[in-house]
Amino acid sequence: MGLHNFRIAFLVLVLCCIPVAYGWGIDGHLIICRLAQPRLSKSAADAVSQLLPAYADNDLGSLCSWADRVKFRYHWSSPLHYINTPDNLCTYQYKRDCKDEDGIEDRCVAGAINNYTTQLLSYGNGNSASEYNLTEALLFLSHFIGDIHQPLHVGFTSDRGANTIDVRWYRRKEVLHHVWDSNIIETAEKRFYDSNVEELIDTLQKNITTVWSKQAKAWEACAKTACPDVYASEGIKAACDWAYKGVEEGSVLNDDYFLSRVPVVNLRLAQGGVRLAATLNRIFG
Ligand SMILES: *[C@@H]1O[C@H](CO)[C@@H](O)[C@H](O)[C@H]1NC(C)=O
Ligand SMILES: *[C@@H]1O[C@H](CO)[C@@H](O)[C@H](O)[C@H]1NC(C)=O
Ligand SMILES: *[C@@H]1O[C@H](CO)[C@@H](O)[C@H](O)[C@H]1NC(C)=O
Ligand SMILES: [Zn+2]
Repeated sequence: MGLHNFRIAFLVLVLCCIPVAYGWGIDGHLIICRLAQPRLSKSAADAVSQLLPAYADNDLGSLCSWADRVKFRYHWSSPLHYINTPDNLCTYQYKRDCKDEDGIEDRCVAGAINNYTTQLLSYGNGNSASEYNLTEALLFLSHFIGDIHQPLHVGFTSDRGANTIDVRWYRRKEVLHHVWDSNIIETAEKRFYDSNVEELIDTLQKNITTVWSKQAKAWEACAKTACPDVYASEGIKAACDWAYKGVEEGSVLNDDYFLSRVPVVNLRLAQGGVRLAATLNRIFG
């Protein structure tokens, strides 16, 4: 194979065949960061605006999927997007589950949230240069608080969070994991919001201050600076009760599944946004 053909073959491989299903799709992350930013306290908003690169134009949402884009460059970061729990147990325990495939402790999305929270706590410590890049810490934390709210990011081990379960989404071939990353949100946008993600964001924002206002207080509560274990436990429960439920290899998912699951997705997006803001507010005081 000539160099030219080799390059084409490589491109085809990269573009078509490497699974990129980790975490909410671009819209899911955008929604969570957009919900969070207006809820920031003055000091947290200032810190975020200092840490964001100038080209982000103070829009955290524009870089909320950055962590997915650097997964190839920062190969070490891939296991930080999810948690594998024992098949069919429907529970999560940090000590038992938060490790990567080589068994290295803390290498899961809950460990990463703790890690980047700790790094960001050194912001403004005066004696300049933190040992870490706090811009990256902010972008990782904002992304991972989103990911941990995607129910199948805390999924079963043997199916890799439903990445190996083939289904049909209406007529399209998908894996179940991707249905939860993207398809449910996309179908909702098309059907209810004129294909306009901003309208979905506005509706969620409004619901957070009205129908969910009492619950939103409870979502924010956390006795520490970050509470990823709470979110992960909710996640595996939602995965069992809603995502995996009634689905097997080859299932056709259509309106029955879509209409009963879209409220769960809306709730998780709202919780993700409220909790990202609350966490940043605790970090930056
Ligand atoms: C913590 O953050 C550093 C800097 O990005 C990274 O090298 C390390 O792998 C992270 N560890 C975890 C568990 O997130
Ligand atoms: C911090 O990380 C960002 C994003 O990767 C990068 O653009 C920037 O140059 C880094 N800053 C430093 C001081 O290394
Ligand atoms: C907002 O709340 C209304 C009233 O409970 C509900 O019908 C609607 O589905 C909610 N929308 C979203 C996106 O949460
Ligand atoms: Zn991710």
